[in-house]
Amino acid sequence: NHQHRIVAVPGDGVGPEVYASACTVLDVLSSRFGFGIDIDEQLIGGAAIDATGNPLPDETVAACRDAKAVLLGAVGGPKWDAQPRELRPERGLLRIRSELGLYCNLRPIVTHPTLHRFSPVRPERLDGVNVMIVRELTGGIYFGEKRREGDVAEDVCRYTADEITRVTRQAGRLAMQRDRRIVQVDKSNVIETSRLWREVTERVIGEEFPEVSLEHLYVDAAAMHLLSKPASFDVMLTENLFGDILSDEASMLCGSMGLLPSASLADGDFGLYEPVHGSAPDIAGQGIANPYAMLLSIAMMLRLSLHETEAADALDSAITDCWSDGVLTLDLVPEGVGTEAVTEAVCRRLTGAAAASRTA
Ligand code: NAD
Ligand code: IPM
Ligand code: MN
Repeated sequence: NHQHRIVAVPGDGVGPEVYASACTVLDVLSSRFGFGIDIDEQLIGGAAIDATGNPLPDETVAACRDAKAVLLGAVGGPKWDAQPRELRPERGLLRIRSELGLYCNLRPIVTHPTLHRFSPVRPERLDGVNVMIVRELTGGIYFGEKRREGDVAEDVCRYTADEITRVTRQAGRLAMQRDRRIVQVDKSNVIETSRLWREVTERVIGEEFPEVSLEHLYVDAAAMHLLSKPASFDVMLTENLFGDILSDEASMLCGSMGLLPSASLADGDFGLYEPVHGSAPDIAGQGIANPYAMLLSIAMMLRLSLHETEAADALDSAITDCWSDGVLTLDLVPEGVGTEAVTEAVCRRLTGAAAASRTA
């Protein structure tokens, strides 16, 4: 049976708390499904700054290059907010994405009927919502040249046709496994890189994915349509900054930031998996962080990088079963339970299901 080597970078704030939940669940999954998982813990973010002065030590990057996948908690916090840009925890996150070539960020938004009541959007609009946000992750304004001269600041937003082409291809492949519809989101009525996005996506989808329909929306309108008709979207393809903003907005279709997983992929099977949420300094250290986003991220890792499909399916259904059972955290309900209680409930579901399938 398979032995998988992965790297974990728990990071800061609630990162290590939801990572602990991930470890417990991975343990249960590995014994139930008969694979081995070998976790190499490394430093990133504020934790790495405190220990080494660098938000992304070389050792962390080297370890990741040797692994099948990387599991990340979260980075950042008020303690490091005054640091210069290069020495901020967030810089470690941006660098790991860039150095590992993780240009394709998948953020699935799938609503579940038992959670409809936690969304500010009307329940009848939430039925059947299944949007895959494909966010370009290693280009755009995040990585362009930055300048500051006194009271004048500048951030360059730069994209090349090659950068747009490769992420569009991934979106096209994904769309072929789904409803074959892509909406590309930009601001091409104003921004030059957006005009390039329209040109390149038209060319790539037109030439390589003739069965996929491609539409374009301006980002302001897309932000509105995400709330007024979220079920109309299949794949939403967009640049780095717009994808960041739209995915936090979309999290409220599900009810909380604490429910959204993500996969950041390079070419091939390697990927980095992390919840979409941050280090949540306001609730860190209290044992109340919602671990579902992290657990759903492990399911993505099992599916996309480790090819442990059965384990991924089992984890996904254990999670939705727990939602139906009302195992929910404080970000969703005032009488919510803590991180450990959710972890135990998910593990119980996983081992209970194992017992049931043995007797069947
Ligand atoms: P955040 O996602 O950390 O928190 C936003 C709100 O959502 C907070 O009220 C928080 O309590 C809540 N929340 C987030 N995750 C939760 C969870 N698992 N369970 C329950 N509630 C949860 O975003 P922010 O407050 O804007 O940023 C805080 C820090 O995190 C900053 O330093 C920011 O740069 C960093 N950040 C890191 C990542 C990452 O590591 N991928 C992502 C976003 C923000
Ligand atoms: C995210 C985060 C990061 C981003 C920050 C922390 C750099 O918000 O993963 O969504 O903007 O990409
Ligand atoms: Mn974000």
